[in-house]
Amino acid sequence: MDKLRITGGTRLKGRVKISGAKNSALPAMAASLLTAGEVTLENVPLVNDIFTTRRLLRELGVIVEFEPDHSARLRAEKILSHEAPYDLVKTMRASVLVLGPLLARTGHARVSLPGGCAIGARPINLHIQGKITVTGTENLMMAASLAHGQTILQNAAREPEVVDLAEMLNRMGAKIDGAGTPTIKIEGVHELKGTMHRVIPDRIEAGTFLVAGAITNGDIEVLNSNPNHLTSVIEKLREAGVNIETGPEGMAVRGNGALKATDVVTKEYPAFATDMQAQYMALMTQANGISFITENIFENRFMHASELMRMGANIRIDGSRAIVSGKGRLTGANVIASDLRASASLILAALIADGVTVIDRVYHLDRGYEKIEEKLRSIGAQIERLK
Ligand code: EPZ
Repeated sequence: MDKLRITGGTRLKGRVKISGAKNSALPAMAASLLTAGEVTLENVPLVNDIFTTRRLLRELGVIVEFEPDHSARLRAEKILSHEAPYDLVKTMRASVLVLGPLLARTGHARVSLPGGCAIGARPINLHIQGKITVTGTENLMMAASLAHGQTILQNAAREPEVVDLAEMLNRMGAKIDGAGTPTIKIEGVHELKGTMHRVIPDRIEAGTFLVAGAITNGDIEVLNSNPNHLTSVIEKLREAGVNIETGPEGMAVRGNGALKATDVVTKEYPAFATDMQAQYMALMTQANGISFITENIFENRFMHASELMRMGANIRIDGSRAIVSGKGRLTGANVIASDLRASASLILAALIADGVTVIDRVYHLDRGYEKIEEKLRSIGAQIERLK
């Protein structure tokens, strides 16, 4: 099991290029099941969830080839199996994304219940009923694309990744209106053809680097990112005193050291993203004053708090609220990652802690961040991977 070893204390300076969005590339890969034509994806992040999805699709009979330039070619000429095996589904909940396309293309699908993971139970009842859920909305949009007649999704998720998938499906010949709003109308068509699609930048990776610049009082240009996908996060960081500039290339963060404790509540997009909550908590340990962080989306997404406390952070958990008292000095420690975004939170804390932090179980991190230690090292972080 790999570990990351970080020595705190350097201000991060320089330019970092954001990878493609994992949560956009995953449904885009699943969408290849909807057609016998060739699907080419560009800007695919080379992270473990993507490799798991490649394995899953190959088991279903899809030809999947990755090129070194972050492009992927997929072709589901014929479906060999309708079942997503449990040994894959249990490692990645997003495997449930093959449910809709398999059903639409072949008329039936068997996907083991994804099971909960660290951050919560994560049932899929809404995928069946169709209420506000990101992958549920994506599953239903894909299934409805080849269904007879019109399907209307009420209370649909509005994430940029949902919009990105709708744009790809429409280029394949689907008839989808309203993606990005709470009501999505889908006119089923008889068949879909292959297409080329460029995956949007990863807004959560971009947000993570904005926090890295803020917490180290650094100066980072976050390139290949789209500030329009992070408005609530940028607004909140500015409210906390972080200097953020946005432009056509992406955005830049110019830390000025004076961080103000600022409350945050996570909600469905376009509100503050739950996937940025752990990173924000690390930042608030360095802000002057008391901040209240309320997590409304997942019932168990504060596991990073106990590890931050072991580094000296002053945090109290009260149900769905974390109360952070800053500004407090953090000390390097041996800590354990519990989930994808918790790992990012521990890296951010380690960047400003006194001394050395060793983070264990970084396989959580490798699910969703591509070469993050190389990107951080390129802007001055003292970080290395211990095999
Ligand atoms: C997507 O997960 C993302 N994953 C998650 O990112 C993200 O945290 C989440 O949306 C919320 O934004 C992908 O897109 C692959 P949900 P998803 O269905 O679709 C409950 C990351 O860090 N719920 O919107 O699984 C659920 O338990 C990951 O990249 C039901 O109760 O999330 C959760 O509490 C972590 N029944 C809430 O709704 C259902 O049928 C939101 O879940 C579905 C969901």
